[in-house]
Amino acid sequence: MCGIVGYVGQEQAAPILLEGLSKLEYRGYDSAGVAVYADQKGTLEVHKAKGRLQVLSDLLQGGASVHGCVGIGHTRWATHGAPSDVNSHPQVSRSGRIAVVHNGIIENYAELKAFLMEQGVPFTSETDTEVVAQLIEHFYDGDILQAVGRVLRRIEGAYALGILCADAPDQIIAVRKDSPLILGYGKDCSFLASDVTAIIRHTRDVVYMDDGEVAVLRRDGIQCYNHLMQPIEKEISHVDWEIDAAEKGGYEHFMFKEIMEQPEALRRCIFPRIRDGEVYLEDFALSEEYIRNIEKIYIVACGSSYHVGMVGKYNLERLTRKPVEVALASEFRYMDPIVSADTLVIVISQSGETLDTMAALREAKRLGATILSIVNVVGSSIARESDMVLYTWAGPEIAVATTKAYSTQMAVMDLLALYFARVLGTVAEEEYQAAIRELLLLPAKMETILADKDDIQYYASQYFNHNSVFFIGRNVDYAMGLEGSLKLKEISYIHSEAYASGELKHGTISLIESGTLVVALASYQKLFEKSMNNVVEVKSRGADVLALTTESRREEMGKVANAVIAIPDTHDLLLPSLGVVPLQLFAYYVALMRGCDIDKPRNLAKSVTVE
Ligand code: F6R
Repeated sequence: MCGIVGYVGQEQAAPILLEGLSKLEYRGYDSAGVAVYADQKGTLEVHKAKGRLQVLSDLLQGGASVHGCVGIGHTRWATHGAPSDVNSHPQVSRSGRIAVVHNGIIENYAELKAFLMEQGVPFTSETDTEVVAQLIEHFYDGDILQAVGRVLRRIEGAYALGILCADAPDQIIAVRKDSPLILGYGKDCSFLASDVTAIIRHTRDVVYMDDGEVAVLRRDGIQCYNHLMQPIEKEISHVDWEIDAAEKGGYEHFMFKEIMEQPEALRRCIFPRIRDGEVYLEDFALSEEYIRNIEKIYIVACGSSYHVGMVGKYNLERLTRKPVEVALASEFRYMDPIVSADTLVIVISQSGETLDTMAALREAKRLGATILSIVNVVGSSIARESDMVLYTWAGPEIAVATTKAYSTQMAVMDLLALYFARVLGTVAEEEYQAAIRELLLLPAKMETILADKDDIQYYASQYFNHNSVFFIGRNVDYAMGLEGSLKLKEISYIHSEAYASGELKHGTISLIESGTLVVALASYQKLFEKSMNNVVEVKSRGADVLALTTESRREEMGKVANAVIAIPDTHDLLLPSLGVVPLQLFAYYVALMRGCDIDKPRNLAKSVTVE
């Protein structure tokens, strides 16, 4: 979703802004723009262009044609007003002396716009952001910080703002509420960004702004203020991941790179949490007594993170015998959930910024639940508002379609299920030890799947022309199918559905006809025979079946399916962690063969910060 970059320093700002914006392209956008204080003229120079960032960059000769050392940049993902040059950010006030970049939505913009129009303020765009720029100018009487403060008391909604004022040419004002914003401390320069990847080439010393905070960035430092505009000191965090982690490093696509990085990500996530055959969870503040008294567990998330929750439900219930409900975050807060102090709410989010997930978290907190979040982005909003965080340590995930974050979320869910089961005494010693052994072997087993990626590429070449695909499975295979189906549809644009195999005959089987591709997932040993029956069932209606099972069942499955992908045998708990990898590769290769924009699929954003 939209990205913000800001720079105040001694170097030419525009090339730095464009380079920073290029690192935020993965978030999804449809237009881009920059505003730079043009020091010779005492004015703000604004350039905007619909389409890829390259269009803007070409227009500005990579930034070389724009002079000035203070500026803000933006990649926009349209919400209010179609993608166009005029609706792109920065948005400027009527005099052109205030420029604003904005992520989020100003909910009461219509009312504020009407008020300003009554005062004779003309509007040029359809955006809610222009209202902010015009309102700042309306209140401005020589003190820009005070004018911003007055605007903040009037606007409602979610926003991260970067503000330039032509009369204060040495500074940028930053504001954050419900939309991420990071401040960077460089040598004789300061930065502003929606995400660390945009500024990591310049500094690793960052401050995560909190809701309601305002900051004034200057070349020689940054002053932060609380919501009452009182000066505050913020703790500086050091980002410790390598720059390479956010680069393609020779791969054609981030998605492929991230698929291949999964074994390493799992080692980082799992190994430090297992010592002497026991699970250890760092910073874990849930007492044994609390765990014993948990009445109900809710898992709340969106998209692929929700699919992790689906697998997590099966595994948690099986190992702990505690009731677990999985809810889509976008539904949770409107469904009047039954939550009390004895409810544990597990929130799963890669970005830690998904608005629906955040809103669900707040609702659960309001109702008295304890919040444990499983998050990838350190210092993100969800991480900071939770009672406890288990980080996935997957490293930066750039491709819109999640892969390594999904796998590490799943690993954390498994560790958690084992930890709870140990405390509750609901897992036999032998099973616990077997699961731990297999968890430690998981990265190596995944490597063997990745080494056979050419087989998956072959299957993709056989099926990439299909227009409709069904994923079927039972229990954890069904949950895994939901993810396989989502991966395929989001990057290859092929319509696909995931069905619980047993449910097919209640309607959907009428869609199966000669040549329909069915990806039958049958890794879960306890239900293997039943899954085989479902393969026979769809085959007899003419389906072409690509089955996925374990090595030990390959031969058996080969007797009924048209083709079989086999994953190494492992503990039941971990089957979806291995099984999802061929599905990710299948989606990737199919999308590649169809010529799709794999890392940035149409209409999608990496971090969904609108409802
Ligand atoms: C799909 C995908 C999305 C995200 C969803 C939640 O590949 O990435 O479905 O899983 O938007 O995002 P997070 O986990 O950041 O809350």
